[in-house]
Amino acid sequence: MYYNPTKLYFGKDSLDYLKEELNNYGNNVVLIYGGGSVKKNGIYDKVVEILKSCGKNIIEDSGVMSNPTLDKLYDGIRIAREAKADLLLALGGGSVIDYAKGVSASVNLPFNVDPWKEYYLEFNECTVKPIPVGAILTMVGTGSEMNGGSVITNTKDKIKNGKVFDSNLYPKFTILNPEFTYTVPRYQMVAGIFDIMSHIMEQYFSDNDDNTSDYIMEGLMRSLIASSKIAVKNPTDYDARSNIMWTATWALNTLVAKGKTEDWEVHMIGQAISAVTNATHGMTLSAVSLPYYYHVMPYGLPKFKRFAMNVWNVSPFGKNAGAIYAKTDTEIAKEGLLMMSEWMREIGLVMHISDLGVTPNNFDAILNATILLDGGYKKLSKEDVLNILNASM
Ligand code: NZQ
Ligand code: ZN
Repeated sequence: MYYNPTKLYFGKDSLDYLKEELNNYGNNVVLIYGGGSVKKNGIYDKVVEILKSCGKNIIEDSGVMSNPTLDKLYDGIRIAREAKADLLLALGGGSVIDYAKGVSASVNLPFNVDPWKEYYLEFNECTVKPIPVGAILTMVGTGSEMNGGSVITNTKDKIKNGKVFDSNLYPKFTILNPEFTYTVPRYQMVAGIFDIMSHIMEQYFSDNDDNTSDYIMEGLMRSLIASSKIAVKNPTDYDARSNIMWTATWALNTLVAKGKTEDWEVHMIGQAISAVTNATHGMTLSAVSLPYYYHVMPYGLPKFKRFAMNVWNVSPFGKNAGAIYAKTDTEIAKEGLLMMSEWMREIGLVMHISDLGVTPNNFDAILNATILLDGGYKKLSKEDVLNILNASM
């Protein structure tokens, strides 16, 4: 079954459609945003003006932090309940939208049911009526704008878990204006770019069949690599920011997962690192990806060869003293990962977990928090994870 109910408005004028969308909901709008970037860059004022012109009661829920916490989620559920919210309008990046979905699924839970246990530990479906979520995206990477993902961090237990809700919890509509991302700090921008790359790789590096989804993903990765190189040099290049935004949405809105078992082990390790250090999501992924992929490469060699040739244009032939020779599959595959590492350095990604504040003292906590999955080419043992952490120091 393939179904994605999120309506997208894309482009420079996409905010103009907010008014039309607001007609579909009652008067009480909880406006959810983060630490204040939207006030500095003026997007908040534009949105409030539209809400006011539609006669909405605006109830503010601000201060949603990166890697939103369980305590903040409890706070948001209370705010939305007191407001008798008709719509949760998420204005921000993945953290704000993920949080809005958590609030949405929890407002109508009985008071004796803890959303943390219900959704983020036991991963139960949401069986109560959700509050509709609308999104205005200001930071690109997670794909939260068109999916059911909601990642929450329990700071007390040092667990960062993601619930993937069903399509009832997807944003009803999302406004995507690439210009709204111009003010994102470079560190966050490149972290978001790698998050997109990682979402695609987590789905691409599974199974061995010839699948349309893999061809779509190769196109998405090529577009992302090309546009990322432009965006780091010129953050206000509209075409580049627009391609990156669109790629992010299609990388994780369930389309390219069709026909794939999907891996997600890099995300499991990355989430464990964030749980312990509160590091930026995309940077946790960039820091562990190369050691991870070198580790699993022998188990999925044909796909790594294909990745090298179709994404990085690695030639299967080499030249030695003027003579042309055929490279081995391993040589081709390794060259692909080498090209990827050069691109990662070029755009300024974090390559070592030690640069995120991880020390060997954190290893036990990270290992404890890492969920081991079996959708990729090799199910890791805890020892494998430890080797990957060591290789990333
Ligand atoms: O809080 P403010 O002041 O708004 O600043 C934010 C934040 O510090 C800033 N920012 C956002 N838009 C801006 C801006 N600064 C200037 N100008 C703008 N236009 O950027 C910082 C990062 O924002 P955040 O929302 O935290 O980033 P991101 O979109 O990367 O979201 C990260 C969260 O999403 C989860 C991650 O684990 C993490 O908790 N994920 C969600 C997924 C999903 N829903 O499917 C999948 C992902 O794999 C990921 O796990
Ligand atoms: Zn991610």
